[in-house]
Amino acid sequence: MDRVSPGLVRDAIVEFLSGSAASVSLKEIEAVVVRKLGEIPRSSIRSYLNLNTPSLFERTERGYYRVAGVNDEKLNGASFTWKEYQEGRARIVHADAVDWLRACEPRSFHAIVTDPPYGLVEYSEKEQTKLRNGNGGGVWRIPPSFDGNRRSPLPRFTTLGEQEISNLGRFFEKVGLLFYRATVPGANIVVASNPLISHYVAAALSKAGLEPRGTIVRLVMTMRGGDRPKNAHDEFRDVSVLPRSMWEPWLVFRRPLDGRVQDNLRTWGTGGFRRISKDQPFGDVVKSHRTGKKERSLAPHPSLKPQSFLRHIVSAVLPLREGMLLDPFAGSGSTLAAANHAGYESVGIEKDADYFKIAKTAIKDLGSI
Ligand SMILES: C[S@@+](CC[C@H](N)C(=O)[O-])C[C@H]1O[C@@H](n2cnc3c(N)ncnc32)[C@H](O)[C@@H]1O
Repeated sequence: MDRVSPGLVRDAIVEFLSGSAASVSLKEIEAVVVRKLGEIPRSSIRSYLNLNTPSLFERTERGYYRVAGVNDEKLNGASFTWKEYQEGRARIVHADAVDWLRACEPRSFHAIVTDPPYGLVEYSEKEQTKLRNGNGGGVWRIPPSFDGNRRSPLPRFTTLGEQEISNLGRFFEKVGLLFYRATVPGANIVVASNPLISHYVAAALSKAGLEPRGTIVRLVMTMRGGDRPKNAHDEFRDVSVLPRSMWEPWLVFRRPLDGRVQDNLRTWGTGGFRRISKDQPFGDVVKSHRTGKKERSLAPHPSLKPQSFLRHIVSAVLPLREGMLLDPFAGSGSTLAAANHAGYESVGIEKDADYFKIAKTAIKDLGSI
C-alpha cells in the first residue's frame, strides 16, 4: 500500500463529513476516502478522526461521527429549496449559508470574500427587530452624536458573554469546515472582522484546517471606542474607556495547497494574490473610509462596506482573474457588486428576506457607481 499524504486524507474526510448533517459510520467514511484516494491504511483515517474529535468532529455513538455542533433538526441540505436572483455574473441566493454550503458541490469556489455576522447575536431575529424599531437597544448601540448628525447603529460586541463567545467559536469552526469543503485547493478566504473578536474567529478557522495567511488592515475611522466613561463624562473629561478604533482586520486564510503554488495556479487558478502592477504586490494595509451616503442610500444595510475597498480586495483574490467567488453572508450584495465590476462570476447567500430584497437591486446599483 502506498503512503498517502495526511493532507489528502484530511481533505477527503472534511469534504465528506462537512457536507452531511447526519452522523456517518466509520465504515462509510473509510469507503468514501478509499474510493477517492485508492487503497490506503485505514489507520490513517482513524487517526485523523481521533486527533480532531471532539474539537471538529463528535462521536455520536460507537463508530459514528459528524461535524461537532450540528443541529439535528436541520435537514441534510439536498432536500431544501431556495429562491435566487441573477444580476450580471452574480447570483444571490435567499438561504441559510450553513444549509446551502452543505448542499453545494465540493470544490465549487476559487475564493471567498465575506463579512460575516461577527457576534452572531446581532443578526438574530430578536436583535434585528430592535434595530428595525430604531431604538438601538440590545447589541445595537447608537454612537454618540458630537456634530448634530444622528449616527448609524453599531453592534456592541463588548456585550458578548462567555457562552456567546463559545457559540461564536463553534459557529466559525463549522463554517470553516464548510469553507474548506466549498473551495478548491489554494483558494483565498478573506473574512472581515473587528479588533474585539478577530482572535476568536481566526482560532476557529485555523482549527477547521484553513491556513492563516495574515491580516489585511482596512484603515478606517470607525465609531467604536473613544467614549468618555458613561454617566461620568464631566468628571473624567481626559479619559476614554476603549481606544478609538481606526482600523478593521480582514483575516486572510487559504485552503491548503495541493502541491506547489505553481501547480495550484495552473490547475485551479489559485495560490496567490493578483499584483496591483508589475512593480507593486498586493499589500496588507489598505486606506479606506466609511461607506458614503450615496452607497448607503442604494443599499441600506447596517454593515454596508464601501465599493472602493471591496473592489480592491475582490479583484486581488483571484490571481489569474479566473474562477468563481463566494460571499456566504452577502447582506446587500456589495461583494457581488464588486465582483460584477471586476467581471468575475460570483454567488452570494443571504438568509434575511429584507436584505435579500435589497440585494436584488443594490448589486446592479452599487456595481455601476
Ligand atoms: C455583516 S453583514 C454583511 C453586510 C455586507 N458586507 C454588506 O456590505 O451589505 C452579515 C449578513 O449575514 C447575514 N446572515 C447571518 N447569518 C446568516 C446565515 N446563517 N446564512 C446567510 N446569511 C446570514 C445577515 O442577515 C447579514 O445581512
